[in-house]
Amino acid sequence: MENYVELLKKNNQSHLLKYIEMASESDKKKLIGQVEKIDFEQINELYEISKKDNKKIMKSYIIEHTKFTDKYKMPEDKFEELNSLGEEIIRKGQYAVVTMAGGQGTRLGHNGPKGTFLLNVSPKPKYLFEIIADGLNKANKKYNTVLNWYIMTSVENNESTVNFFEEHNFFGYPKENIMFFKQGSLPLLSEEGKLFVDEEFNIKFAADGNGCIYKSMKNEGILDDMKKKGIKWVFIGAVDNALLNMSDTCLLGLAISENNEIASKSVVKINPQEKVGVFCKKNSAPAVIEYTELPLGMAEETDEEGELLFGESHIMCNLYSIGALEKISEQELPYHSANKKASYMKEDGTIFKAEIPNAYKYEAFIFDGFNYFDNISILRGRREEDFAPIKNATEVDCPETAIKLYNDFHKGE
Ligand code: UD1
Repeated sequence: MENYVELLKKNNQSHLLKYIEMASESDKKKLIGQVEKIDFEQINELYEISKKDNKKIMKSYIIEHTKFTDKYKMPEDKFEELNSLGEEIIRKGQYAVVTMAGGQGTRLGHNGPKGTFLLNVSPKPKYLFEIIADGLNKANKKYNTVLNWYIMTSVENNESTVNFFEEHNFFGYPKENIMFFKQGSLPLLSEEGKLFVDEEFNIKFAADGNGCIYKSMKNEGILDDMKKKGIKWVFIGAVDNALLNMSDTCLLGLAISENNEIASKSVVKINPQEKVGVFCKKNSAPAVIEYTELPLGMAEETDEEGELLFGESHIMCNLYSIGALEKISEQELPYHSANKKASYMKEDGTIFKAEIPNAYKYEAFIFDGFNYFDNISILRGRREEDFAPIKNATEVDCPETAIKLYNDFHKGE
């Protein structure tokens, strides 16, 4: 009894005592159990992050433009050489694909895991997971292999994701080559740094960001599984890009030929306001600045030819050597704070429905892993071949724009 009371008081969370008082015996036990598992030191550190001005912090770094290779501006023999380097790895069964599907897709307004969203493409509508399965099946045929496919889910959506795959017969993908694993979660905090409780007397948690994939791959035995299977290179991509090329042999060949352990695909940013991260060098190390943290002045800077200086968009099309994944999985990536809407149960037992952001959510970003390397390879692709994001319900990066890009690309197949 004493333990948790002291713990909550000491950590500025004594409001939770009221919930414990009003809960039934079983809910009380559950809530106390959750309190005892919380790392309050970490919570206090996270709350400090929310008070910082990231755009201002960004200005304290030396941020420089970074080099890239244009896939379509290299000599033909070089292009062929890179492709055959990459192809060899895939044909030898040393290549695997990971899909990050732990996000909630709140902006899209879809009720369920984002991969279960049905995109009305031609000739027949396809779920986002189905589009990925089709892409992998196609690569398997082309390279005479069966790629191992790992799918990262979250605590919130793991069960519904696995059920969805079972209901749809794994979209024709060999079931024994699919493995699901879960990412972790972190508590949401109010603007005053308080934990939230929901109507079932659970402390409110949310997925800890796609940057936690490295740690999860290690903790969930995925890296070991890959090593056991002889996998040397791993592609990690998002669930919400209908044109994601998961087996670009040129990207793989570029990493090998440049002797880098990471390669990432970019496309040219449409305008300074586009909601994408951009590649750069941050204090000399490879990095991506997220759109939420890029100061507008920098976003608008151009070179002599009028191209955006920070115009290589990170499209979540990343490739790693297994060694690179192991190395990053040993690091503590920083957390970033975002404002979110969180509905919760008030201390009087009524439900508060959030209409505007009222909570801080903490996420690690996948590209913060790049920072542990001297260099990464960046390959500029083409938007019409590589990037059809589905983020919003309407207007930009929405189903309508993705359907058009998808249909144009697959025309005549
Ligand atoms: C992300 C990138 C951004 C890039 C853009 C391209 C980050 C932090 N930002 O932005 O640089 O330009 O995509 O489309 O990566 N996910 C999880 N678990 C989580 C959070 C996300 O698996 O906890 C997955 C999502 O399911 C999705 C991907 O990560 O597959 C992208 O996540 P999202 O949060 O939508 O990122 P964006 O803000 O769009």
